[in-house]
Amino acid sequence: MSTTVGFLSTIAPSACPLHDRRSGAAPCRRLIRSRISCHSNGDAPQPPPSSLLMDRRDVLIALGGLTGGAAAAGKMALAAPVMRPDLSKCHDASSLVLGDCLKCCPPYTSGDIVDYTFPETPLRVRRAAQEVIKDSEYMDKYKEAVRRMKKLPDDHPWNFYQQAQIHCAYCNDAYDQVGFPCVPVQIHYGWLFLPWHRYYLHFYERILGKLINDDTFTLPFWNYDSPHGMTMPEIFTDASSPLYDGNRNTSHYPPVIVDYAHSHDYTAGSGETGNGLVRANQCVMQKTFKRSLQRAELFMGEPQRAGQKPCSGPGQLECIHNTIHNWVGMKEYPHTDMGDFATAARDCIFFSHHANIDRLWHIYQTMRGYKIEFNNPDWLDSTFIFYDENEQIVRVKVRGCLTPDKLWYTYQEVPIPWIDLDCGKSTETKEKTKTEPSLVRVEPFGPGPMELSKTALRARVPRPKKNRLKAEKEDEVEVLQIKDIVVDTEGPVRFDVYIAKPYGDQAGTDYGEFAGTFVRLPHTKKDYKCKGSLKLGITSLLEDIDADDSENLVVTLLPQIGKFTIGDVVIKLLPTDYRGTSLKRKISGD
Ligand code: C2O
Repeated sequence: MSTTVGFLSTIAPSACPLHDRRSGAAPCRRLIRSRISCHSNGDAPQPPPSSLLMDRRDVLIALGGLTGGAAAAGKMALAAPVMRPDLSKCHDASSLVLGDCLKCCPPYTSGDIVDYTFPETPLRVRRAAQEVIKDSEYMDKYKEAVRRMKKLPDDHPWNFYQQAQIHCAYCNDAYDQVGFPCVPVQIHYGWLFLPWHRYYLHFYERILGKLINDDTFTLPFWNYDSPHGMTMPEIFTDASSPLYDGNRNTSHYPPVIVDYAHSHDYTAGSGETGNGLVRANQCVMQKTFKRSLQRAELFMGEPQRAGQKPCSGPGQLECIHNTIHNWVGMKEYPHTDMGDFATAARDCIFFSHHANIDRLWHIYQTMRGYKIEFNNPDWLDSTFIFYDENEQIVRVKVRGCLTPDKLWYTYQEVPIPWIDLDCGKSTETKEKTKTEPSLVRVEPFGPGPMELSKTALRARVPRPKKNRLKAEKEDEVEVLQIKDIVVDTEGPVRFDVYIAKPYGDQAGTDYGEFAGTFVRLPHTKKDYKCKGSLKLGITSLLEDIDADDSENLVVTLLPQIGKFTIGDVVIKLLPTDYRGTSLKRKISGD
């Protein structure tokens, strides 16, 4: 078993030059002072060897992971779930604007780690923020719970800022993957995003409940997919409340309506206001669901396996989620709190934002009849660590949070008007089509990677097959794939994707139908020049624009903020999750 020796030596801190530089040679500089005091774990006792902290199964997985890691060097696909972090190896995190010396490690490094089981509480109902504001008894409890959380000693794992550090640690590279010392644990940009945040909210909510002795306590959700919830909830904009946070874009306070097309570029966005904006947002939501229902990857993001660098392969729900972060966070550099993952959870609005994201996932699951999203142990066995409401370090797996009856919570049923909204062609598009003045020639993409910074990039992209039959569409979803995306910017980024029907090798000047978006928050690590990807389902989009009979499509990438290099743009047919069966419940209008 030479791999055993290899594994043990691989996890020695010296195995990663990047880590060495961070922890040793280069002095840690803080670029700006964060507004709360940071609690150093610098003088924590020397951690025990990590092997002592792992149970047998973890070690076995680590060994599997190492084999995969060796294979990765040979460019083979890995087959291993991302393992729980080794708490004893937690090190400084980094953020673009907050610097390389972020102290995000939890104030505990070892102890018994037990498998978590959801406590059998009464069914707890998370209610909409616009509803709970009318319930003063609830509001008093919620504020009191947060007040108590903020008053806990700085190094108490339940302390408000310690709770926010959990998010920082899992997002800003404080943990290296066990067995892969240069690969950080990252729970954004892919298929871990929704399950990890479901757990994070659960523990946060349980701790708040514990602090006020209320076993039924729930967080409210920010119902921004509904016309009734499209402004920042007022429970968070009252400056005298413990739920308040001043580090926001205050020009977005009510009655300003959230804009799913927001991009930090103050003139961009949907260009809509009032009811037009409310409608535009809802149509984005409806189409996002409709186009990604057939294949979970499109909604939830691409696989992230042990040893893989955290490149971006976000699903469309995550991109909408990123937009909300950018919209709430400070308008100017450094964009904190919500505008940077390292600080996002210092704002109570974070948890209501994520309750809605979790609720949208729940709606997605319901629409799919709870068809499992990824029937794959690499997803199902991915493992995280949390600190629960009984002050116990617990281990959880993705597979443990998928069945609603196990979780003992649900969401208040509020109307979901976007499901039935008529989102046919917008009048604007119709008019433009009618009066299309001139056609321009559009070339195929490439050759080679193309830059995307100030002007739109348009390309004629061939389809694998035209005029597909209904049965073929049920078996395979047509996917537009933007490959090898390299983000060349350190700040927030966004580009939007449009699809139009060409006339031969020409197309109108109108970009056509919005197909989806690629959005990120400012993040860390210039070192990670790794290549991301974006996949957008277009089967129903092509029906909407009557392009089923086209051999090519004109794809427009419209940069909003940031600079990118795009490796390729292709259209593929990928199996639906329902291959061979038919989707029972579909979004209306499909
Ligand atoms: Cu972990 Cu909204 O982010």
